[in-house]
Amino acid sequence: MKNTINFETCSKCGECADVCPSDIILKSDDGNYFFPEELEYLCVKCCQCMAVCPTNSVKVNGFEYGKDVIDLQHDIPDYQHFVNLLATRRSVRNFKDKEVPDELIQKIIDSLAFMPFGFESGVIQITVVNNRKKLRESLPLFSAFYDKMVDWMANPISHFFMKRAMHPAMYATVKDHLLPIIKSGHYKLESGDDNILRNAPCMLIFHSRLNAPEHLEDCWIATTIAMFSAITLGLGSTIIGLVPPALNKGKGIKEVFAIPEENEVISALILGYPKYKMKKTVNRPKNNINWLK
Ligand SMILES: Cc1cc2nc3c(=O)[nH]c(=O)nc-3n(C[C@H](O)[C@H](O)[C@H](O)COP(=O)(O)O)c2cc1C
Ligand code: SF4
Ligand code: SF4
Repeated sequence: MKNTINFETCSKCGECADVCPSDIILKSDDGNYFFPEELEYLCVKCCQCMAVCPTNSVKVNGFEYGKDVIDLQHDIPDYQHFVNLLATRRSVRNFKDKEVPDELIQKIIDSLAFMPFGFESGVIQITVVNNRKKLRESLPLFSAFYDKMVDWMANPISHFFMKRAMHPAMYATVKDHLLPIIKSGHYKLESGDDNILRNAPCMLIFHSRLNAPEHLEDCWIATTIAMFSAITLGLGSTIIGLVPPALNKGKGIKEVFAIPEENEVISALILGYPKYKMKKTVNRPKNNINWLK
Protein backbone atom coordinates (compact mmCIF):
# COMPACT_ATOMS: atom_id res chain seq x y z
CA MET A 1 0.00 0.00 0.00
CA LYS A 2 1.13 3.51 -0.82
CA ASN A 3 0.05 7.08 -0.20
CA THR A 4 -2.22 8.18 -3.04
CA ILE A 5 -4.11 11.17 -4.42
CA ASN A 6 -7.35 10.66 -6.34
CA PHE A 7 -6.84 12.73 -9.50
CA GLU A 8 -10.55 12.52 -10.35
CA THR A 9 -11.72 14.31 -7.20
CA CYS A 10 -8.65 16.51 -6.58
CA SER A 11 -9.37 20.21 -7.21
CA LYS A 12 -5.63 20.96 -7.58
CA CYS A 13 -5.67 23.57 -4.80
CA GLY A 14 -2.17 22.49 -3.69
CA GLU A 15 -2.87 22.80 0.05
CA CYS A 16 -1.73 19.24 0.77
CA ALA A 17 1.66 19.93 -0.83
CA ASP A 18 1.98 23.18 1.12
CA VAL A 19 1.24 21.70 4.55
CA CYS A 20 3.31 18.54 4.15
CA PRO A 21 6.23 18.96 6.59
CA SER A 22 8.33 16.50 4.58
CA ASP A 23 7.69 18.15 1.18
CA ILE A 24 6.87 14.83 -0.43
CA ILE A 25 3.77 15.86 -2.38
CA LEU A 26 4.81 17.20 -5.76
CA LYS A 27 3.05 18.77 -8.75
CA SER A 28 3.47 17.10 -12.12
CA ASP A 29 3.81 18.96 -15.42
CA ASP A 30 0.12 18.35 -16.14
CA GLY A 31 -0.85 20.02 -12.82
CA ASN A 32 -1.68 16.89 -10.82
CA TYR A 33 -0.44 16.53 -7.25
CA PHE A 34 1.14 13.16 -6.51
CA PHE A 35 3.35 11.19 -4.12
CA PRO A 36 6.68 10.16 -5.71
CA GLU A 37 7.18 6.60 -4.57
CA GLU A 38 10.88 7.07 -3.85
CA LEU A 39 10.13 9.82 -1.28
CA GLU A 40 7.42 7.98 0.60
CA TYR A 41 9.82 6.75 3.28
CA LEU A 42 10.03 10.39 4.45
CA CYS A 43 6.32 10.46 5.32
CA VAL A 44 5.90 11.05 9.08
CA LYS A 45 2.21 10.01 8.97
CA CYS A 46 1.05 13.33 10.39
CA CYS A 47 -2.01 13.23 8.08
CA GLN A 48 -2.05 17.00 7.68
CA CYS A 49 -2.44 16.42 3.93
CA MET A 50 -5.64 14.43 4.52
CA ALA A 51 -6.90 16.91 7.10
CA VAL A 52 -6.48 19.97 4.90
CA CYS A 53 -7.85 18.47 1.67
CA PRO A 54 -11.26 20.01 0.84
CA THR A 55 -12.28 17.05 -1.33
CA ASN A 56 -11.06 14.06 0.74
CA SER A 57 -8.77 13.08 -2.12
CA VAL A 58 -5.63 12.14 -0.17
CA LYS A 59 -5.02 8.69 1.23
CA VAL A 60 -2.09 8.17 3.57
CA ASN A 61 -1.22 4.53 3.89
CA GLY A 62 -2.91 3.14 7.01
CA PHE A 63 -5.34 6.04 7.51
CA GLU A 64 -8.95 6.38 6.42
CA TYR A 65 -11.35 9.29 6.33
CA GLY A 66 -14.17 8.86 8.84
CA LYS A 67 -12.20 6.36 10.92
CA ASP A 68 -8.72 7.75 11.60
CA VAL A 69 -9.07 11.22 10.11
CA ILE A 70 -12.29 12.60 11.52
CA ASP A 71 -14.33 15.81 11.41
CA LEU A 72 -13.37 18.58 13.82
CA GLN A 73 -15.74 19.91 16.47
CA HIS A 74 -15.77 23.69 16.50
CA ASP A 75 -17.08 24.41 20.00
CA ILE A 76 -13.66 24.76 21.65
CA PRO A 77 -13.10 26.85 24.81
CA ASP A 78 -11.93 30.41 24.35
CA TYR A 79 -8.75 31.67 26.04
CA GLN A 80 -10.43 32.62 29.32
CA HIS A 81 -12.26 29.30 29.66
CA PHE A 82 -9.02 27.48 28.94
CA VAL A 83 -7.15 29.49 31.59
CA ASN A 84 -10.01 28.85 34.01
CA LEU A 85 -9.51 25.13 33.47
CA LEU A 86 -5.76 25.45 34.07
CA ALA A 87 -6.38 27.43 37.25
CA THR A 88 -8.80 24.78 38.52
CA ARG A 89 -6.16 22.06 38.47
CA ARG A 90 -4.55 21.40 41.83
CA SER A 91 -2.80 18.31 43.08
CA VAL A 92 -5.45 16.24 44.81
CA ARG A 93 -4.13 14.17 47.71
CA ASN A 94 -7.38 13.52 49.54
CA PHE A 95 -9.91 11.34 47.80
CA LYS A 96 -13.49 10.39 48.50
CA ASP A 97 -14.17 6.80 49.40
CA LYS A 98 -15.64 6.30 45.95
CA GLU A 99 -14.29 4.21 43.12
CA VAL A 100 -13.64 5.63 39.65
CA PRO A 101 -15.79 4.03 36.92
CA ASP A 102 -13.70 2.38 34.20
CA GLU A 103 -15.66 4.36 31.59
CA LEU A 104 -14.23 7.63 32.90
CA ILE A 105 -10.70 6.27 32.78
CA GLN A 106 -11.37 5.12 29.24
CA LYS A 107 -12.48 8.67 28.37
CA ILE A 108 -9.22 10.04 29.75
CA ILE A 109 -7.29 7.54 27.65
CA ASP A 110 -9.40 8.36 24.57
CA SER A 111 -8.51 12.04 24.93
CA LEU A 112 -4.83 11.15 24.50
CA ALA A 113 -5.53 10.21 20.88
CA PHE A 114 -5.14 13.89 20.01
CA MET A 115 -1.83 14.62 21.74
CA PRO A 116 1.36 15.62 19.95
CA PHE A 117 4.10 13.00 19.86
CA GLY A 118 7.82 13.16 19.29
CA PHE A 119 8.47 10.57 16.65
CA GLU A 120 5.76 7.97 16.30
CA SER A 121 2.37 7.68 17.92
CA GLY A 122 1.65 4.77 20.19
CA VAL A 123 5.02 4.38 21.92
CA ILE A 124 3.41 5.01 25.31
CA GLN A 125 2.05 2.16 27.35
CA ILE A 126 -0.38 2.95 30.14
CA THR A 127 -1.03 0.60 32.99
CA VAL A 128 -4.35 1.36 34.67
CA VAL A 129 -4.51 0.21 38.27
CA ASN A 130 -8.13 0.91 39.12
CA ASN A 131 -7.95 -1.02 42.36
CA ARG A 132 -7.44 0.70 45.69
CA LYS A 133 -6.62 -2.58 47.43
CA LYS A 134 -3.88 -3.45 44.95
CA LEU A 135 -2.36 0.01 45.33
CA ARG A 136 -2.51 -0.30 49.10
CA GLU A 137 -0.82 -3.71 48.96
CA SER A 138 2.06 -2.29 46.91
CA LEU A 139 2.90 0.40 49.48
CA PRO A 140 5.39 -1.64 51.55
CA LEU A 141 7.49 -2.12 48.40
CA PHE A 142 7.67 1.64 47.80
CA SER A 143 8.34 2.38 51.44
CA ALA A 144 11.13 -0.23 51.60
CA PHE A 145 12.68 1.12 48.40
CA TYR A 146 12.90 4.63 49.82
CA ASP A 147 14.24 3.36 53.15
CA LYS A 148 17.00 1.63 51.21
CA MET A 149 17.74 4.86 49.39
CA VAL A 150 18.76 6.42 52.71
CA ASP A 151 21.26 3.58 53.24
CA TRP A 152 22.61 3.88 49.69
CA MET A 153 23.12 7.61 50.07
CA ALA A 154 24.83 7.14 53.45
CA ASN A 155 27.34 4.67 52.03
CA PRO A 156 30.15 6.61 50.27
CA ILE A 157 30.67 3.91 47.64
CA SER A 158 27.02 3.47 46.61
CA HIS A 159 26.55 7.25 46.92
CA PHE A 160 29.38 7.77 44.44
CA PHE A 161 27.85 5.35 41.92
CA MET A 162 24.33 6.74 42.37
CA LYS A 163 25.57 10.25 41.77
CA ARG A 164 27.38 9.12 38.65
CA ALA A 165 24.34 7.27 37.29
CA MET A 166 21.80 10.03 37.96
CA HIS A 167 21.02 13.13 35.95
CA PRO A 168 22.29 16.12 38.00
CA ALA A 169 18.72 17.39 38.46
CA MET A 170 17.59 14.01 39.76
CA TYR A 171 20.58 13.81 42.10
CA ALA A 172 19.80 17.26 43.50
CA THR A 173 16.13 16.29 43.98
CA VAL A 174 17.08 13.13 45.83
CA LYS A 175 19.77 14.72 48.01
CA ASP A 176 18.17 18.06 48.85
CA HIS A 177 14.46 17.31 48.69
CA LEU A 178 13.66 13.64 48.95
CA LEU A 179 16.22 12.45 51.49
CA PRO A 180 15.15 14.83 54.28
CA ILE A 181 11.51 13.81 53.73
CA ILE A 182 12.33 10.10 53.83
CA LYS A 183 14.44 10.58 56.97
CA SER A 184 11.54 12.40 58.65
CA GLY A 185 9.56 9.15 58.39
CA HIS A 186 6.96 10.70 56.06
CA TYR A 187 6.73 7.60 53.90
CA LYS A 188 6.56 5.11 56.77
CA LEU A 189 3.35 3.13 56.86
CA GLU A 190 3.15 2.37 60.57
CA SER A 191 0.87 5.33 61.33
CA GLY A 192 -1.64 4.02 58.79
CA ASP A 193 -1.16 7.14 56.66
CA ASP A 194 -0.34 6.73 52.99
CA ASN A 195 1.83 9.67 51.95
CA ILE A 196 3.04 7.83 48.87
CA LEU A 197 -0.06 6.95 46.84
CA ARG A 198 -2.39 9.01 49.05
CA ASN A 199 -4.91 6.22 49.44
CA ALA A 200 -6.01 6.89 45.86
CA PRO A 201 -8.50 4.51 44.27
CA CYS A 202 -6.73 4.54 40.92
CA MET A 203 -3.30 5.09 39.38
CA LEU A 204 -2.19 5.43 35.77
CA ILE A 205 1.41 4.42 35.11
CA PHE A 206 3.00 5.73 31.91
CA HIS A 207 5.86 3.66 30.53
CA SER A 208 7.50 2.63 27.31
CA ARG A 209 10.17 0.51 25.72
CA LEU A 210 13.48 2.02 26.79
CA ASN A 211 14.63 2.54 23.20
CA ALA A 212 11.34 4.00 21.88
CA PRO A 213 12.14 7.42 20.38
CA GLU A 214 11.06 10.45 22.45
CA HIS A 215 9.13 8.25 24.88
CA LEU A 216 10.01 10.38 27.89
CA GLU A 217 8.52 13.49 26.33
CA ASP A 218 5.48 11.62 25.05
CA CYS A 219 4.76 10.12 28.46
CA TRP A 220 4.91 13.55 30.10
CA ILE A 221 2.64 15.09 27.50
CA ALA A 222 0.15 12.25 28.04
CA THR A 223 0.35 12.64 31.81
CA THR A 224 -0.35 16.37 31.57
CA ILE A 225 -3.28 15.93 29.22
CA ALA A 226 -4.69 13.16 31.44
CA MET A 227 -4.63 15.55 34.42
CA PHE A 228 -6.80 18.05 32.59
CA SER A 229 -9.11 15.44 31.08
CA ALA A 230 -9.66 14.17 34.61
CA ILE A 231 -10.87 17.59 35.78
CA THR A 232 -13.48 17.78 33.04
CA LEU A 233 -14.85 14.45 34.29
CA GLY A 234 -15.08 15.59 37.92
CA LEU A 235 -11.89 13.78 38.93
CA GLY A 236 -8.73 15.02 40.60
CA SER A 237 -5.18 13.77 40.20
CA THR A 238 -1.59 14.15 41.36
CA ILE A 239 1.64 13.23 39.62
CA ILE A 240 3.56 10.91 41.92
CA GLY A 241 7.25 11.32 41.22
CA LEU A 242 8.04 8.68 43.82
CA VAL A 243 6.65 5.92 41.64
CA PRO A 244 8.98 5.75 38.58
CA PRO A 245 12.33 5.38 40.42
CA ALA A 246 10.89 2.70 42.68
CA LEU A 247 9.47 0.77 39.73
CA ASN A 248 12.58 1.17 37.59
CA LYS A 249 15.16 0.42 40.27
CA GLY A 250 13.29 -1.46 43.00
CA LYS A 251 13.34 -5.23 42.79
CA GLY A 252 10.06 -6.88 41.73
CA ILE A 253 7.83 -3.77 41.83
CA LYS A 254 7.29 -3.70 38.07
CA GLU A 255 6.13 -7.28 38.31
CA VAL A 256 3.41 -6.33 40.80
CA PHE A 257 1.95 -3.99 38.17
CA ALA A 258 2.57 -6.38 35.24
CA ILE A 259 4.92 -3.87 33.60
CA PRO A 260 7.47 -5.51 31.27
CA GLU A 261 10.90 -5.59 32.93
CA GLU A 262 12.54 -3.99 29.87
CA ASN A 263 10.20 -0.97 29.97
CA GLU A 264 11.10 2.37 31.50
CA VAL A 265 8.47 3.92 33.76
CA ILE A 266 8.33 7.66 33.20
CA SER A 267 5.42 8.98 35.21
CA ALA A 268 2.47 8.04 37.36
CA LEU A 269 -0.80 9.79 38.09
CA ILE A 270 -3.08 8.98 40.99
CA LEU A 271 -6.74 9.64 40.31
CA GLY A 272 -9.99 9.81 42.18
CA TYR A 273 -12.90 11.98 43.27
CA PRO A 274 -11.54 14.94 45.27
CA LYS A 275 -12.63 14.94 48.89
CA TYR A 276 -12.39 18.72 49.19
CA LYS A 277 -13.46 21.48 46.86
CA MET A 278 -10.89 24.25 46.51
CA LYS A 279 -12.39 27.73 46.77
CA LYS A 280 -9.24 29.49 45.58
CA THR A 281 -6.26 28.89 43.33
CA VAL A 282 -2.66 30.13 43.52
CA ASN A 283 -1.35 32.60 40.99
CA ARG A 284 2.29 31.59 41.13
CA PRO A 285 5.27 33.73 40.11
CA LYS A 286 5.80 33.51 36.39
CA ASN A 287 8.65 31.57 34.86
CA ASN A 288 11.72 33.49 33.80
CA ILE A 289 10.74 34.88 30.40
CA ASN A 290 13.27 36.57 28.16
CA TRP A 291 11.75 38.47 25.21
CA LEU A 292 14.17 39.09 22.37
CA LYS A 293 12.85 41.56 19.82
C1 LIG B 1 7.40 15.75 38.29
C2 LIG B 1 6.47 15.89 39.45
C3 LIG B 1 6.54 14.99 40.50
C4 LIG B 1 5.65 15.11 41.58
N1 LIG B 1 5.70 14.19 42.59
C5 LIG B 1 4.82 14.27 43.62
C6 LIG B 1 4.81 13.27 44.64
O1 LIG B 1 5.57 12.30 44.62
N2 LIG B 1 3.91 13.39 45.65
C7 LIG B 1 3.04 14.44 45.70
O2 LIG B 1 2.24 14.48 46.64
N3 LIG B 1 3.02 15.41 44.75
C8 LIG B 1 3.88 15.34 43.70
N4 LIG B 1 3.86 16.28 42.69
C9 LIG B 1 2.89 17.39 42.75
C10 LIG B 1 3.58 18.72 43.07
O3 LIG B 1 4.01 18.72 44.39
C11 LIG B 1 2.58 19.85 42.80
O4 LIG B 1 2.22 19.84 41.45
C12 LIG B 1 3.15 21.21 43.14
O5 LIG B 1 3.41 21.30 44.51
C13 LIG B 1 2.18 22.33 42.76
O6 LIG B 1 0.95 22.20 43.43
P1 LIG B 1 -0.44 22.03 42.63
O7 LIG B 1 -0.26 20.86 41.69
O8 LIG B 1 -1.47 21.79 43.67
O9 LIG B 1 -0.69 23.30 41.89
C14 LIG B 1 4.71 16.17 41.61
C15 LIG B 1 4.64 17.06 40.54
C16 LIG B 1 5.49 16.91 39.46
C17 LIG B 1 5.36 17.86 38.29
S1 SF4 C 1 1.12 12.32 6.24
FE1 SF4 C 1 2.25 14.19 6.69
S2 SF4 C 1 4.32 13.74 6.01
FE2 SF4 C 1 3.01 12.18 5.08
S3 SF4 C 1 2.48 13.04 3.11
FE3 SF4 C 1 0.86 13.66 4.48
S4 SF4 C 1 1.47 15.68 5.22
FE4 SF4 C 1 3.28 14.72 4.30
S1 SF4 D 1 -5.47 19.28 -0.92
FE1 SF4 D 1 -6.80 17.76 -1.92
S2 SF4 D 1 -7.78 18.90 -3.53
FE2 SF4 D 1 -6.04 20.14 -2.91
S3 SF4 D 1 -4.36 19.48 -4.26
FE3 SF4 D 1 -4.23 18.21 -2.46
S4 SF4 D 1 -5.41 16.39 -2.98
FE4 SF4 D 1 -5.99 17.95 -4.43
